[in-house]
Amino acid sequence: MNASLRSRLGAKIFFSYLVIIVVDIAVLFIASQFILPSAFNRHMMGMGSMMGSEMMNEMMGGTSSMPQLYADFRASFNEALMYATLAAMTAALALSFLFSRSVVAPVLAMSHATQRIAAGRYDERVQVKGNDELAQLAQRFNEMAEKLNQVETMRRRLIGDVSHELRTPLTAIKGSMEGLMDGVLPAEDDTFQQIHAEAERLNRLVDDLQELSRVEAGAYPLDIRPLDVPSLVQTVTKRLALHAQSKRISLDLDLTPDLPPLLADEDRTVQVLTNLVSNAIQYTPEGGKVSISAKRINHEIQISVRDTGIGIPPEHLPHIFDRFYRVDKSRSRQAGGGSGIGLTIARALVEAQGGRIWVESNGEGTGSTFHFTLPI
Ligand SMILES: Nc1ncnc2c1ncn2[C@@H]1O[C@H](COP(=O)(O)OP(=O)(O)O)[C@@H](O)[C@H]1O
Ligand SMILES: [Mg+2]
Repeated sequence: MNASLRSRLGAKIFFSYLVIIVVDIAVLFIASQFILPSAFNRHMMGMGSMMGSEMMNEMMGGTSSMPQLYADFRASFNEALMYATLAAMTAALALSFLFSRSVVAPVLAMSHATQRIAAGRYDERVQVKGNDELAQLAQRFNEMAEKLNQVETMRRRLIGDVSHELRTPLTAIKGSMEGLMDGVLPAEDDTFQQIHAEAERLNRLVDDLQELSRVEAGAYPLDIRPLDVPSLVQTVTKRLALHAQSKRISLDLDLTPDLPPLLADEDRTVQVLTNLVSNAIQYTPEGGKVSISAKRINHEIQISVRDTGIGIPPEHLPHIFDRFYRVDKSRSRQAGGGSGIGLTIARALVEAQGGRIWVESNGEGTGSTFHFTLPI
């Protein structure tokens, strides 16, 4: 296949050169048929009138006539034309060989690399030489391969993470059931509730995963329209007021007056804010405080959720939005915590609406503040 590709592309280039040469020579030849005789005559006449006819005759040895002179000239012209043709063809052959090598080699390299990538070797790269269109293609190709590699790595890690997350509750359910069957565990409400709680956990995990995959795939319609910030915040605080009350946590609002409307999807924005506020309530001990504030910064509105809770140690801050990332797995489990997907979903939703989301915390025990922006 390689050999035939090389010969095909190389042959195409050679033949295109050849066609140009043949056409050139044909044009030259035909033109000479028409122009050469009259031009020759004109020049000879000019020369004749300058030197006088005797001198001309003498110069020509007195023997040859005008037609004979022309025939000689014609023959030498044709001979020169033939040599020129040969030289041009040799040059075309050499040039097309060199040129086709410089075109065919990178194309071949990329063709091989695609085959290897298709076979699952995502670390495959091609060499980039120079900066012409082919080099740009090679560079784009490498970028694409890098992206594929990342996606593949993410896919593998996701499968590993998901199976790990599923295993914990499943093991617990299985263990309890075995205990019940063997009579080791008493058939009491407590035991059933434990099993139910683990099943519930599985349920939540699967729901979260489904939501995450939908959000990350962008497989939901965004209904972007102007939204009133205060009513948005109130929707969320109303929804979470009971939860906050049960933990004796006060929910404060601090909205600058005359906020312009947001340009965002209402349901999704409520979802983000609900996520942040319920996290704040969840990770704040009883008697603490959670405050929601909103202000305008240039062409965006920045909404912040501040809590007086357990805070986040600095080494965890960069990962807090990663899938399944929990600062303290056992603590977040005891606290009825989720699977560590909530913030990942929040980030995907904010970014899908053209905003940014980030977190600040001075470390453990100092509370944390989550901010996100959305366009006006
Ligand atoms: N307001 C907060 N205060 C302290 N830690 C937080 C806060 N919000 C989130 N976290 C940390 O970030 C982790 C990820 O949050 P999230 O994605 O919502 O997962 P989870 O399902 O555990 O709540 C949590 O497990 C917790 O460790
Ligand atoms: Mg959460």
